[in-house]
Amino acid sequence: MREIRFDRFGGPEVLTLHSDAPTPVPGGEEVLVRVAYVGLNPLDFKIRDGSSGMSRDLPLPAGTGRELAGTVIGAGSELDEAELRSRGLAPGTRVFGMRGPGDRRGVAAEVVAIAADDLAPIPDEVPPEDLPRWAGLALAGLTAIATVHDTAEIREGQTVLVHGGSGGVGQLLIPMSLEAGAAQVWATGRAANAERIRELGAVPIAYDTGDWQEELRRATGGRGVDVVLDTHYHSTFLASLDHVAEGGRIVALPSLADLSPARERGLDARVPGIVPGRGRLDRLVQGIRAGRYPLEVSQVLPLGEIAEAHRRLEDGHTRGKLVLDAQA
Ligand SMILES: NC(=O)c1ccc[n+]([C@@H]2O[C@H](COP(=O)([O-])OP(=O)(O)OC[C@H]3O[C@@H](n4cnc5c(N)ncnc54)[C@H](OP(=O)(O)O)[C@@H]3O)[C@@H](O)[C@H]2O)c1
Repeated sequence: MREIRFDRFGGPEVLTLHSDAPTPVPGGEEVLVRVAYVGLNPLDFKIRDGSSGMSRDLPLPAGTGRELAGTVIGAGSELDEAELRSRGLAPGTRVFGMRGPGDRRGVAAEVVAIAADDLAPIPDEVPPEDLPRWAGLALAGLTAIATVHDTAEIREGQTVLVHGGSGGVGQLLIPMSLEAGAAQVWATGRAANAERIRELGAVPIAYDTGDWQEELRRATGGRGVDVVLDTHYHSTFLASLDHVAEGGRIVALPSLADLSPARERGLDARVPGIVPGRGRLDRLVQGIRAGRYPLEVSQVLPLGEIAEAHRRLEDGHTRGKLVLDAQA
């Protein structure tokens, strides 16, 4: 089968398509999935270039990719037909999910073995053309749940600023913050993405055509916001410290974000950590079904064009999700 691997840390060119990879054998509590689409995330290029905490001691060659949508085609010894059916994962079922944080195998391949607990069924009514969106849902979705609920702990009536409102995680942070009771959400992005940010329910603030700090100051009467959710971090984190209201909180998304400048000023600063599991995946399914999480896929590329996909992702301006077609 075809699989993407890299045998050294480096640029996108280290990603290589192999056509002769052995089909994996599922462990006892794992299922075998024929992959339809692979969702891409900044974490993928951070692991690939060696800058992620997850690159440490990673045995090479390694696979790449963390999340997927596909179809169950087999299972390990601990999962008989009855057990699979009770979990809604019978052979032939379409599923989506992501590798748990401790599982460093990739998913950019035609077939993968993955823990049954890290998958959930895709509702029958979902048309095939909508599958790319499901491939890109798990990682951004579980991150957004962890960010809004476990880390920022957004409460009724709070005001929120999201940096990067039209990105993969940002497109879910806006509706989830509103769902949690936020009274008002502002979100930064390029002016070209302002309409999308508005559709998601936030007030857009363009950082490329105006001064976002000035605009936020005006909008909040100088008070700032109760919660900053910073998906960008690089050029936004330090400046945002001036806009956290008294008793407020700032959450930076990149796992290796340096929070010390915030803490030195006595601010409550945190980084979220994904909590995996079926319960939260099912929560995402409910949100999508109800139309509350209109996550967008902006590009679908063939598996063999993964290096080009990483280049685009590294640009830092992906709108919604970038997805690979694993069978193309
Ligand atoms: N802690 C965790 O467990 C966890 C989990 C998932 C992701 N993450 C991290 O979260 C970050 C975001 O992930 P993602 O998947 O949402 O990335 P993404 O899809 O690539 O989105 C990047 C976003 O950043 C925006 N952006 C770029 N420059 C900006 C600027 N100067 N000011 C404001 N926004 C700017 C872009 O909007 P424009 O195009 O409009 O500029 C785009 O919306 C990554 O660092 C990722 O590694 C952490």
